[in-house]
Amino acid sequence: MKTHAEIILLVFSLALALAWSGDLGAATAGLKKQPFGKTPDGNDISLYTLTNKNGMEVAITNFGGIVVSIKVPDRSGNFADVVLGYDSLEGYLTNPSYFGAIIGRYANRIARGKFTLDGKTYTLAQNNGENSLHGGTIGFNKKVWTGRDISTPKAPSLELNYVSNDGEEGYPGNLSVRVVYTLTAQNELKIEYSATTDKNTVLNLTNHSYFNLAGKGSANILGHILTIHSDKFTPVDSGLIPTGESRSVQGTPFDFRKSTAIGDRITQDDGQLKLGRGYDHNWIVTHAKVGDVSLAARVSEPRTGRVLEVWTDQPGIQFYSGNFLDGTIHGNGGVVYGQRSGFCLETQHYPDSPNHPEFPSTLLKPGGRFHSTTIFKFRSEPLQQH
Ligand code: GLA
Repeated sequence: MKTHAEIILLVFSLALALAWSGDLGAATAGLKKQPFGKTPDGNDISLYTLTNKNGMEVAITNFGGIVVSIKVPDRSGNFADVVLGYDSLEGYLTNPSYFGAIIGRYANRIARGKFTLDGKTYTLAQNNGENSLHGGTIGFNKKVWTGRDISTPKAPSLELNYVSNDGEEGYPGNLSVRVVYTLTAQNELKIEYSATTDKNTVLNLTNHSYFNLAGKGSANILGHILTIHSDKFTPVDSGLIPTGESRSVQGTPFDFRKSTAIGDRITQDDGQLKLGRGYDHNWIVTHAKVGDVSLAARVSEPRTGRVLEVWTDQPGIQFYSGNFLDGTIHGNGGVVYGQRSGFCLETQHYPDSPNHPEFPSTLLKPGGRFHSTTIFKFRSEPLQQH
């Protein structure tokens, strides 16, 4: 007969041995597919969960290619979902703020919903005042994509394909789009976009995830510390259309070259901040060479120590501080998404490029292939001493 103390000792040594063996908490990497409901027109939708060996988990649906959740550890190893989202497909059917979605054909705005290509003027939906926003009325964020598990022994990977017909939402050319989401063992969510067309067309693809590194549903993101590796941004007019100028950030609240809390200057008396109702602007990403995947931005959350780095080969990044979120959206578990409860870092070409020959071109031609990579890399850092 063992005494109480002996039993406690035995259980304790067993737990210790398990923890030391490294088996405790080790996750099995892979991709799991589950049903995620039906669209009103009867399409079965799936939810794909990618898990890596560290236990990081990313859930993606083939409806809109939407990233539904990203679960990452804080500095003490506690996992939380760091993207804003809904409980079920229903929320994503309307999704007025574009939570987590793939945006296309043209992310961001096109002035007055018009552009001219090869002498022909194309007319798009004016779904944001007089401008066209995020691909029009039924953009890529509301399309059913074809999902395929293309995982390798190294990493779980989901391929999504969508063919946008000539004339869809007013854009020319049959456009085949492929997006690959890969979760690496280094806690990176890698997004690779590619596209081909059979007619000259314009294209700007991004992902519209809203992050809150303290965990979605936590207070606003004003205390998150942001760095943007950029000397210049593109100022906008009252419709958030770039004026065409590339302005130095020096001496402005847009200078994030030195890490600064998002909320530090957001209410300053600044014309551009007033027009954006906060930050809702495109920064010009510095690349050593065109096509390099460079570190564009870094965000850290001091309380939890979670860090997000955004790497991209795109020429621009839209930092949007969630200004239009107004508490009317209720997400997973009934959480209320109030103003600035999440931020977006949308890697992209500059807004309204088809109407700005001075901006990097968004033209895609038959025979050519658009290819681009963005990486959301998660880490945690120790408590910073000030
Ligand atoms: C983008 C835009 C914002 C807003 C959101 C969606 O980030 O730049 O102005 O329209 O999408 O609400």
